[in-house]
Amino acid sequence: MEKKTYTVNDPEFWSSHYQDENHPWDLGGSNPVFSGLLAKEQFPIMPSESYAPSLMIPGCGLGHDAIHFAKEGFAVTAIDFAKEPIEQLKTRAEEEGVSVDARVLDVFSLPETLKDTQDIILEYTCFCAIDPSRRDEYVGVLSSTLRKGGHLLALVFPIWDRKEGPPYAVCPDQWEEAAKRHGLQVKQRGPSEDSHPARAAHETLIIFQKE
Ligand SMILES: C[S@@+](CC[C@H](N)C(=O)[O-])C[C@H]1O[C@@H](n2cnc3c(N)ncnc32)[C@H](O)[C@@H]1O
Repeated sequence: MEKKTYTVNDPEFWSSHYQDENHPWDLGGSNPVFSGLLAKEQFPIMPSESYAPSLMIPGCGLGHDAIHFAKEGFAVTAIDFAKEPIEQLKTRAEEEGVSVDARVLDVFSLPETLKDTQDIILEYTCFCAIDPSRRDEYVGVLSSTLRKGGHLLALVFPIWDRKEGPPYAVCPDQWEEAAKRHGLQVKQRGPSEDSHPARAAHETLIIFQKE
């Protein structure tokens, strides 16, 4: 029998990377741009004693941001269609005593219950991982998951000037055009002083707000 070849559209493609511990995209900790915004109180919405803002991370991988933001008082939903990183994330959250709603889900088939629910979405390296022909659809899904007035923080990497992936390069203008089509307005765009040194020249932060 012929062996099936998996593509980026299949969870098995990503699962095999996690099984082999071959995940060069993983930063090993929370993304310094997102955690930096929070530390500087420049985050669009800050948690308080009376409110834990909802925050979703699509294509969360091993989920360092999920753990970090849950510890900081956000109600985190972390999604990945590969089961291995979600299992690892659940184990770690339990060990560290934090609550993360970690789910094995395809972003293209999110449950209706997530619609219009999120105050924040953190997007990092899922857009670049999906089939480019589905980018517009993906941004539409993110927009539909945000509540009105909610914010999408897209740290666009690897921007188009970098030839290699992982696995596809991305153009910030294309991000913006897709976002506008789905009712997301640009609030801020530019490089971030907190970028990981190895990636600084290759990423752009865009903060969108849902109308
Ligand atoms: C390049 S990795 C980045 C992971 C994580 N964002 C990070 O920075 O470490 C892309 C991730 O997106 C996940 N992914 C790709 N397509 C997906 C989809 N349609 N639904 C859910 N997760 C997806 C993959 O399983 C993988 O964990």
